[in-house]
Amino acid sequence: MSNTQPAPVASEHVELKARKVSFDWEETPLHWVPGDPFTTHTINVLHLLLPAGERWFVHVYQQALPYITDDRLRADVIGFIGQEAIHSQAHDDVLPHLREQGLDPTPYTAQVDWFFEKLLGDRTLPPGRPRRWWLLERVALIAAIEHYTAFLGNWVLNADELDRVGADPTMLDLLRWHGAEEVEHRSVAFELFMHLDGGYRRRARTWALAFSALVFLWQRGVRFFMENDPTLLERKASFGQFVRKGRQGVLPSTPDMLRSIPRYLSRAYHPSQEGDTAQAMAYLASSPGANGGR
Ligand SMILES: [Fe+2]
Ligand SMILES: [Fe+2]
Repeated sequence: MSNTQPAPVASEHVELKARKVSFDWEETPLHWVPGDPFTTHTINVLHLLLPAGERWFVHVYQQALPYITDDRLRADVIGFIGQEAIHSQAHDDVLPHLREQGLDPTPYTAQVDWFFEKLLGDRTLPPGRPRRWWLLERVALIAAIEHYTAFLGNWVLNADELDRVGADPTMLDLLRWHGAEEVEHRSVAFELFMHLDGGYRRRARTWALAFSALVFLWQRGVRFFMENDPTLLERKASFGQFVRKGRQGVLPSTPDMLRSIPRYLSRAYHPSQEGDTAQAMAYLASSPGANGGR
């Protein structure tokens, strides 16, 4: 069982529900951050990683459900599954629009599918301890990844610079609706991990794995988009550009990202210490996409 059980900072508890959404991509330009293909494509990587990644969350959590002995946590996990299934579909729905604009992501998404379905998929393990070990590893990986989805969700809800530079409102709404639900359900994955295991060594090990995999997949995704964008002559993508765009405020800042690492690794960490549920709920109440579209 668990080592330590850090408590939420607030007693707030939101009943999670999957919201139907609708986004119309007709008017969204290829470079939806105007004149800034690097920022556009850095954020576009979400459309490549999330469909397979969030489908994988759902797949793993369905296997974890029978081991949950707390009714409220089970209800939270079911709500989480419903939300992630819709997130995965909503990002997948952007891909045909990219194809129409001459940017076919299939060679990259095939690699991402392999990563989640094969490398992190079900293994032919004997029942009992080996099978449970693999389930707990994946539950812990999801908790680490959700630290970053909540970080990004909180960032995009507050990224006023994207509005100022004239980013496409439909894309911003997709990102902020998703980001708001990530903030809303940010405690679920960590609480499930603490409920089923909570071991600190596993938390640290799986954080290192999740972080390395995210950095690896993300930089490959940005390079893929820049190299295959039919409109670009200057196709380079560099870490320096990422740092500069973070300083400008159109991408998360590198110092903020680095500071989030020791927070997750702190033994006192609880996801409710980060982000603002009231802000997320306010966005969800006003999101055009989550309220029947425009
Ligand atoms: Fe999500
Ligand atoms: Fe999530």
